[in-house]
Amino acid sequence: MNKKIAVIKGDGIGPEIITEAMKVLDTVAQKYGHTFEYTQLLMGGCSIDANGVPLTDETIATCKASDAVLMGSIGGDTNTSPWYKLPANLRPEAGLLGIRKALGLFANLRPCLLYPQLSGACPLKEEISAKGFDMLIMRELTGGLYFGERKTEEVNGVMTAIDTLSYNENEIRRIAIKAFEVAMKRRKKVTSVDKANVLDSSRLWRKVVNEVAKDYPEVTLEHMLVDNSAMQLVKDPAQFDVMVTENMFGDILSDEASMITGSIGMLPSASMNETKFGLYEPSGGSAPDIAGQNKANPIATILSAAMMLRYSFDLIDEADAVEEAVRKTLDDGYRTGDIMSDGCKAVSCSEMGDLICQRI
Ligand code: IPM
Ligand code: MG
Repeated sequence: MNKKIAVIKGDGIGPEIITEAMKVLDTVAQKYGHTFEYTQLLMGGCSIDANGVPLTDETIATCKASDAVLMGSIGGDTNTSPWYKLPANLRPEAGLLGIRKALGLFANLRPCLLYPQLSGACPLKEEISAKGFDMLIMRELTGGLYFGERKTEEVNGVMTAIDTLSYNENEIRRIAIKAFEVAMKRRKKVTSVDKANVLDSSRLWRKVVNEVAKDYPEVTLEHMLVDNSAMQLVKDPAQFDVMVTENMFGDILSDEASMITGSIGMLPSASMNETKFGLYEPSGGSAPDIAGQNKANPIATILSAAMMLRYSFDLIDEADAVEEAVRKTLDDGYRTGDIMSDGCKAVSCSEMGDLICQRI
C-alpha cells in the first residue's frame, strides 16, 4: 500500500514525538511492505515565525491532497512566548482550529484506557483503578463555543466579552451517528454528556441523540449532565464505554480522563470527517517546559499513528502490531519520566521510540 502522509511537527515537543512516530511508521512499512510518503508542513508557532500566520493555504491544500495528517503539537508558553502578544486569530491555536474547520474534522476520537502496567501511575484509589477502564470520548470538534460568534466591546462604558454556543441538528446528528457506530464495535453503550438542565443547545443535543439512538436498538444510551460526568470519571470510570459530547465539554473531560490513565502522554486522538480522512495527534499539548530535552513521552503520538493505520488506511494487523509493541515495551518495564515508577527503567523519548520499533 502506498499512502501520502502530511506531517506537521509543530512546536515544543512536537518535533521529538513526531520523529518517534515516523520511526514506528517506517518500521511498519518495512515489515509489511508499504510505502509511506511524507510531506512536512508548518503550522502553529513555527508557521508564525516563518510565514507570519499560524496556518497557510498551502498547508491546508497539501493536507487535503494527502491520505491522512500526522500532527505533533502546537503552541508555546502562554505567559512568556511572543506568539501570545499577537491578536487571537494569529496565535498558534488559531492554526489548529483553522485546520480542523478547513478539513471538516468534526469528530474527535479520544480513547482513554488504563494499561494494567501503569495502574501505579493512576492517581485514583486502588479500589477504583483495580477495575481498570477502557472508554472513548467522542468530542464534537467544529462547532459550539469554539466556533460561535464572539466579540469584546464596551457596553455602556463596561468592557464586555461574548462567546456563543450554537449547534444545529445536523451537526449533532452526524457526531451522534459516529458515536453509535463506534459503540457498535465496542461494548455497545453510549453516554451522551450535556447540560440540558440549563442550556438550549443541550436540550436540542439530547433530542437529536435520542432520535439517532432509535437506529441502534442494540446500543444502550444514557444521558448524563456534564458536572456529574466530571464526578463519575473519578468515582467510577469503568462505567463508561463511548462518551459523546460537545466541543468544550469534550475538551475538559478528555483532559480529566487522560489524567486518570496516568499521563496525558499516553493518549492518542483522531479527528475525522465523514470519510476515512483524518488528522492524528496526541491529546496533550506542546509541553514547552520540556521541549528539546528528549524527555517527552512519544507513546500518545505513536498510538495516534496506530489509529491512522486503523481508521484511515484499514491496516488493522499493522495497527494491532503497534499497539501490542507499546504494551510489550511497558511490560518490559521501560518508562519515560511522566509514567516512571519504582523498579522501572527510565528511558528518553528516542529510546522509547526505538524500543517500540524493536517489538513490532
Ligand atoms: C485540544 C487542545 C486544543 C483545544 C487547544 C490547543 C486549542 O486543548 O486539542 O484539546 O482546545 O481543542
Ligand atoms: Mg484540550
